[in-house]
Amino acid sequence: MAAESLTPPARKLLAALPLPHCGADLTALTEPLAGYSALAINTDILRLDRLDGVLSGNKLFKLAGHLAQFASGGRRCLLSFGGPFSNHLHALAAAGQRLGIPVVLIVRGYQQLPLTPTLADCVSWGAQLVFADRRTYARRYDPDWQQQLTAQYDALVIPEGGGGEAGLSGCRVIGELAQAYDQLWLAVGSGTTALGLASQVGGCEIVGVNAVADQGERRRHWQQRMPAAVRWRLLDDAHCGGFARRNDALMECIRRWDAAGLALDPVYTGKLMLAYEGALARGDLAGQRVLLIHSGGLQGRRGVAGLDLPGVKVSPAGADGHLHPASGPA
Ligand SMILES: Cc1ncc(COP(=O)(O)O)c(C=O)c1O
Repeated sequence: MAAESLTPPARKLLAALPLPHCGADLTALTEPLAGYSALAINTDILRLDRLDGVLSGNKLFKLAGHLAQFASGGRRCLLSFGGPFSNHLHALAAAGQRLGIPVVLIVRGYQQLPLTPTLADCVSWGAQLVFADRRTYARRYDPDWQQQLTAQYDALVIPEGGGGEAGLSGCRVIGELAQAYDQLWLAVGSGTTALGLASQVGGCEIVGVNAVADQGERRRHWQQRMPAAVRWRLLDDAHCGGFARRNDALMECIRRWDAAGLALDPVYTGKLMLAYEGALARGDLAGQRVLLIHSGGLQGRRGVAGLDLPGVKVSPAGADGHLHPASGPA
């Protein structure tokens, strides 16, 4: 691992491996949102997108437990599943390259050339791509197929999105920050990040913005899994039509924050901010101290027409190693 390319919190987090609870100091990545919008009083934003040039957002936290498991496991490589724009596959390939671990990526769909920018990065970092048609990919949770893949590649199999029990452990440290706030807002996909941090939030309420139209599946899962003492809400009306779907309101929201200097991604953090803005406008947040989590995902903007706006050119990593807009506050 080229530790010098990491910010101090990322270095500390990785240094803590293979401990299940990684003690990164994240306060340095927290800033007032009012620096971007005067309306956003009493709100801080945790800029996990600034954690590292490539391994940014919640990814390092979700991978931490899996990497720890790999370190103690004696397998040859890491293997996981995702779509052609997956933030998880991107981060896993980067981690593999930096840690010197071979990585096999099972990618949903048929190989199309040119590769998406996401997959092109993964290949450039040495990951092996294996394309799976929809029927095959649908078996990604099937223990028989997972066992077959484990044997075929001598691999530690990581669930799609970096979820599962091992994915929870590294997220706890994020929850510790929330104790100073009334509400913690974050975008939700598999729900792993929120479940992982939940045990540490104290009296702070978790407000999850579901990026997926899942017919209540995440809610049912959280009802079973969230610690009983934790107050939480899941907002199911900000997914803009479903996972990775976009509408005008979302695009306008992203452009507004772009103009203010805060880059968002269209799959997760854009939807988070759309929901947050709605709550702010309704006055729901009066008197509440809010922490928003910027969970990264900016690499995914490269696949979206209309998001390479002038002045907001998102590149894999800037000269300082960060993935960020070309202009606006640092
Ligand atoms: C940028 C970004 N934000 C939020 C999430 C949602 O995280 P989780 O799947 O842990 O709910 C993801 C998916 O991992 C993501 O890539």
